Amino acid sequence: MMTHGSRMQAPAFHLRWGIKKSLIDYVTALRDGTRKLSDSADESTTGEFQFSLADISRFDLASHTGVVQFRGRVEFGGHMGMLYVCISDPWLHMSAGSVELTVADGDFGDRLSLIVQHDGVEVSRNSTYQQLVIRQPKLTESGTAVFGEVYETNDVFDEMRVTLPLPETR
Ligand code: HEM
Repeated sequence: MMTHGSRMQAPAFHLRWGIKKSLIDYVTALRDGTRKLSDSADESTTGEFQFSLADISRFDLASHTGVVQFRGRVEFGGHMGMLYVCISDPWLHMSAGSVELTVADGDFGDRLSLIVQHDGVEVSRNSTYQQLVIRQPKLTESGTAVFGEVYETNDVFDEMRVTLPLPETR
């Protein structure tokens, strides 16, 4: 297992994810639609949500395997409180050729499997960071509950882009 010391809190490293454009359009169009970002979640200039890196001590930056933890919460509301969707503290669990995204579920530290992708990850690097792109991630069965059972298992969500330190810099 590797440790990455002070880099674990580096604000430049993050997960950017639009979640699902049609969902954002839907909530935005509601007369009482709301979105709330908290716990260091942010909105990028490109309109995606940005979750900051919290812990990469269980992630191998060279082989892209293990767990990389992000923090931040994005909440959507509407329909006089009947609609409530919360995406909180997303973690990526990666193994060869497959990715699972889990989110915090409830107050007891439980996690819920939200998204999977088995098509591999695109990796690019420059001199200061590496970026992983996860295209066509799909909703899990347990994830359907997060969206009020409106979407179905395997419905495609927006791509995720992850910016991480280079393996050489650890
Ligand atoms: C008063 C209650 C509600 C009404 C009248 C309502 C109405 C609608 C309508 C008309 C659409 C289709 C929108 C479109 O295609 O442009 C829709 C989509 C949707 N609703 Fe609701 N809804 C209600 C409650 C909820 C609740 C409680 C949730 C729970 C999360 C929810 C989640 C969604 C989602 C995820 C979509 C799909 C958005 C998309 O990706 O196109 N809705 N709803």
